[in-house]
Amino acid sequence: MKLFCVGCGPGDPELLTIRALNLIKEADVIFVPTSKSDKPSIALSIVAKYINKTTKIIHLVFPMVKDKNSLKEYWEKNTAEISRMVKTGKKTLYLTVGDPSLYSTWIYIHRELKKNYKDIEIEIIPGITSIFAFAAESKISLVEGNEHLSIVPACYDLNKVKNTVKASDTIVFLKDGRYFDNVIEMLSDTGFSEESQIAIAQDVSTNENILEIKHLKDLKGKKQPTQKYFSIMVVKRNDR
Ligand SMILES: C[S@@+](CC[C@H](N)C(=O)[O-])C[C@H]1O[C@@H](n2cnc3c(N)ncnc32)[C@H](O)[C@@H]1O
Repeated sequence: MKLFCVGCGPGDPELLTIRALNLIKEADVIFVPTSKSDKPSIALSIVAKYINKTTKIIHLVFPMVKDKNSLKEYWEKNTAEISRMVKTGKKTLYLTVGDPSLYSTWIYIHRELKKNYKDIEIEIIPGITSIFAFAAESKISLVEGNEHLSIVPACYDLNKVKNTVKASDTIVFLKDGRYFDNVIEMLSDTGFSEESQIAIAQDVSTNENILEIKHLKDLKGKKQPTQKYFSIMVVKRNDR
């Protein structure tokens, strides 16, 4: 009784590990997360061309809300459904975008499994995260020598991260381009140099990608180039 969680990388179907590809080709059942029942699954769209016609695909809804109490119900229901399938002996996969350990729906499934389904063995296949795909696409190295890197979700209270931001050389902001205007404002308030390098990207490693590399002074008071959820922003204190 084993469940495989497969990291599907940032979007380009070629940015998969060989282990991920082999498992996807051999799967009997593949579970995929989606935010609404009528919305396509991004993880599925990345690997769809490798999936066998006979493989059963099951969509699991994880609503995009912040209230943990209402989400818990979905985590429990979805984990129960996955567990029932794993127990039939079918080769079962759970897919996730990027890497499973970074802000992924998998984290909640994994927690539920460890708590309530201890007899299910788990194997996690790492994936290329949006962060490293972004670094490759923009050709910006994230940190060197003794520099510090922080990863911050932009869609929560940014006042709480001011100290983290002050102590970091490079900061990666994930989760939603609609909040990047607030990030620029917060960086200015935190005393980030006007010359700091800022790269903003959307849909990294896909055909829809956009990428802009600017300085803080060029972005202040302007509408940021992306309003999409699948956006990433990297700020470097030292523009070398
Ligand atoms: C729920 S988190 C999932 C992160 C994922 N596990 C990873 O390893 O990249 C979703 C956020 O990741 C970022 N993201 C994931 N894929 C992306 C892509 N192809 N381009 C830009 N941002 C991406 C965005 O910030 C998005 O809001």
